[in-house]
Amino acid sequence: MSRAAGRVVLVTGASRGIGAACARRFAATGARLALLARPSAALDAMGRELGAHTVPCDLAEAPQVEAALVEVERALGPVDVLVNNAGIVHRHEVVGHSTAEWDRVMAVNLRAPFLLARGVLPGMLARGAGRIINVSSISGSGGTPLLSAYCASKAGLLGFTRALSAEVKGRGVVVVAVSPGSVDTDMLVGSGFAPAMAPEDIAEIVAFLADGPPALTGGAVEAFA
Ligand SMILES: NC(=O)c1ccc[n+]([C@@H]2O[C@H](COP(=O)([O-])OP(=O)(O)OC[C@H]3O[C@@H](n4cnc5c(N)ncnc54)[C@H](OP(=O)(O)O)[C@@H]3O)[C@@H](O)[C@H]2O)c1
Repeated sequence: MSRAAGRVVLVTGASRGIGAACARRFAATGARLALLARPSAALDAMGRELGAHTVPCDLAEAPQVEAALVEVERALGPVDVLVNNAGIVHRHEVVGHSTAEWDRVMAVNLRAPFLLARGVLPGMLARGAGRIINVSSISGSGGTPLLSAYCASKAGLLGFTRALSAEVKGRGVVVVAVSPGSVDTDMLVGSGFAPAMAPEDIAEIVAFLADGPPALTGGAVEAFA
């Protein structure tokens, strides 16, 4: 039996792709799951499949994010493992890039992980235990044409991971990131990149980070294949 058995695990972007694979991977270990995405039949189906608590929420809307966390903790209790997985891309050159789309990418990819981390941290610190796993991207350390907002948000998420890890160092909370290359999900469609990994490959790394050595804190595992 995994150490994840009975733990409360919150996975964002769990309606499909990498988040759905993470949810299935944690469900197999006996975790009590909260699945977060915008309202959809796919999210409902994931909840039924895994017997998980689903929380429909638009991560671009800060009040919805805060309300969602209240709902998760009301239903399941304090979050032991937070997987900040949800992410979006907006493909456009910087010239003519809409401010609204820039803000939306930043809100979903960077502000929502901050809001959720800020929400779960007091409980984790009080218990002296917890894991926050941020799904960044190799685009967070490299540059990808037409993805300026995405690259900036993912670089920001790596910076947030390092800063938060240092801030809570020695208090039992581990903060880590995974930076995938090309994964076979809806996000990759139309990107021009060939899929090199399956969502389950990243879920395996996330599961490892949830139980792996605390010395990993602040780091980012780069996943290529
Ligand atoms: N696929 C890749 O090659 C790749 C590579 C590197 C990093 N990543 C990262 O991996 C993570 C997962 O990506 P994926 O490939 O699995 O993408 P995906 O298949 O497009 O799934 C994205 C997930 O995020 C959710 N989401 C999007 N906007 C949301 C919002 N405003 N509020 C709440 N949930 C929202 C989606 O649900 P709804 O749309 O139903 O709300 C969906 O569950 C992302 O952070 C992505 O940047 C992916």
